[in-house]
Amino acid sequence: MNIKIYPAPVLLKKATPVKEITDEIRKTLDEMLELMYEINGVGLAAPQVGISKRMLVIDTARVDEGETKRPIKMINPKITKLSKEECECEEGCLSLPEIYREVKRPCEVTVEYTDENGKPQKLTADELLGRAIQHEIDHLNGVVFIDHLSALKKKMAVSRLEKIIKKYLES
Ligand code: NI
Repeated sequence: MNIKIYPAPVLLKKATPVKEITDEIRKTLDEMLELMYEINGVGLAAPQVGISKRMLVIDTARVDEGETKRPIKMINPKITKLSKEECECEEGCLSLPEIYREVKRPCEVTVEYTDENGKPQKLTADELLGRAIQHEIDHLNGVVFIDHLSALKKKMAVSRLEKIIKKYLES
């Protein structure tokens, strides 16, 4: 399992729903969480590891500051409510290394999803968790955070990313 870097085609297309929650699906979610912790991510969506399925993992606990892990695994998540009020905050993404930009999003989100045991769940969140949920669900729809920027700002971010990737490949 490795992280796909933008603009990998799997990151640009809509992922398909998970039809059945099998052991294979549960194993994949566990592996995604493990990888996310390893690289200090807050969230990881299946398309980011090359799997075009509607599932994701999130943990906003500051494990490096001694907080206990709070892993959330979402299968077929669906946003059912977004606040009118919007908040602007800096975002980054494991698929866009070293790119950080201010992104405006609704402050609060309500999401309905199925957990890894097949149980329906509903969660309302704001702040970092609310933002992570929206960011990761975007990935399931072929959307990355720089798509929320103006066309010019997105173009600048993409050209910066190209330079960063070139630097990685050369070193
Ligand atoms: Ni991301």
